[in-house]
Amino acid sequence: MTELKIDAAKTAGTINRNIYGHFAEHLGRCIYEGIWVGEDSPIPNTKGLRNDVTAALKGLNIPVLRWPGGCFADEYHWMDGIGPKENRPRMVNTHWGGTVENNHFGTHEFMELCEQLGTEPYINGNVGSGTVYEMQQWMEYLTFDGESPMANLRKLNGREEPWKVKYFGVGNESWGCGGNMRPEYYADEYRRYGTYVRNYGDNKVYKIACGASEGDYHWTEVLMREAGRHMHGLSLHYYTLPTGNWQNKGSATEFDSTAWFETLRRTLYMEELLTKHSAIMDKYDPEKRVGLIVDEWGTWYNVEPGTNPGFLYQQNSLRDALVAGINLNLFHQHCDRVQMANIAQTVNVLQAMILTEGEKMVLTPTYHVFEMFKVHQDAELVPVELESPSYTLGAVSIPQLSVSCSRNAEGKLHLSLCNLHHAEAAPVQVKLSGLTDAAPELSGRILAHDSLQAHNTFADPEKVKPAAFTALEWKDGVLSATLPPASVAVIAIG
Ligand code: AHR
Repeated sequence: MTELKIDAAKTAGTINRNIYGHFAEHLGRCIYEGIWVGEDSPIPNTKGLRNDVTAALKGLNIPVLRWPGGCFADEYHWMDGIGPKENRPRMVNTHWGGTVENNHFGTHEFMELCEQLGTEPYINGNVGSGTVYEMQQWMEYLTFDGESPMANLRKLNGREEPWKVKYFGVGNESWGCGGNMRPEYYADEYRRYGTYVRNYGDNKVYKIACGASEGDYHWTEVLMREAGRHMHGLSLHYYTLPTGNWQNKGSATEFDSTAWFETLRRTLYMEELLTKHSAIMDKYDPEKRVGLIVDEWGTWYNVEPGTNPGFLYQQNSLRDALVAGINLNLFHQHCDRVQMANIAQTVNVLQAMILTEGEKMVLTPTYHVFEMFKVHQDAELVPVELESPSYTLGAVSIPQLSVSCSRNAEGKLHLSLCNLHHAEAAPVQVKLSGLTDAAPELSGRILAHDSLQAHNTFADPEKVKPAAFTALEWKDGVLSATLPPASVAVIAIG
């Protein structure tokens, strides 16, 4: 029996809702087919955006959506994606499968998507192959209210009012696909490009600099030292590969309990990354003004057999649900510095929420975790005292439990718990103090399955879905429950 202690009256920070952000790139079938089908499609749509997908995404309360890439961002020229669709140039998507990009989904379509979803746009600008002038003009086009060449062009294209764009990324992976730059060089480029990302009117931009890949602490050090005072956020990218080998990452659905363990062990590396990058940021920014923006994270497997290797299409199993729950708990625990995170990617790419095939759509186990955990958005983090039992394989041990707790505006607690063990249940006792009600209302939801590889398919779309978690006992301020092996649960108290 594992004991957890929670003082419901304590607070350890606020969980920024943007930790529940998403990322949609012009990659494979994410934007085209997955989100955008065009006005003339037989698939029911509103202004070209497929209705089934937008309805499902609305169920997640997506707070912020990053677009147009990724690597694609640094070869995207936004002016190709405005004006009458028949006049928009067709280009090659060199990074992702060499397919034709017809630019039918551009600035107006993305902003329409954000409006339909009620989400904040996070636009990633082009530093790698774009100009300062181009970036400046994009912001003017989007946000300037008045008489100017770009505002006039926007109006000519049918949008009178400016939009609000708070989040703007200055380049993506500038150490790699975004230009192969050294941190010293990029820091200067960031300062130069960022200068011209203007605040027009009352649109105040939160500028995000390209941050490190995984454990490249030197990059964070240089960026914070040379450009920290010019930025609001600094990004971090880390993907979970079961094997750690980019040449053979492992299958999304065919894996054994060793690969299960390895995947969870590797995803827990996020804890070390957040701690160490935050420590460097603390050195230059003790007031924690600059946010750590984990704007790409999630699992990355071999593509599904027979699919285009450049499309990064992968299935999503119970293992992905655990990866999602563990990372979200970590982001909560680091909410003093982590101000945003964007899982890669929304539809049909990497650790997706939704998979589509023609007019069919399926929700993944990851979708269900995001839906269950959305109660933590903007809630106060409540510290949890826990000494987790170990989950051991051979000579290696990781914690068996991943937990976080928050208190919402109405005073209700939400406790999210993941049992990482592939075969052993986890009985827990939660000692709660500081509650206003001696016999609070309890309810819970759980995502679990007998098979570790369980996943949803178009033929069997509801194999993995949340169920009520009713085996909750309350006695004298102690909540008792047993988490089945390989499960993710959220318990509401109060
Ligand atoms: O998410 C897929 C790709 O991974 C992104 O385009 C890039 O930024 C990262 O390398």
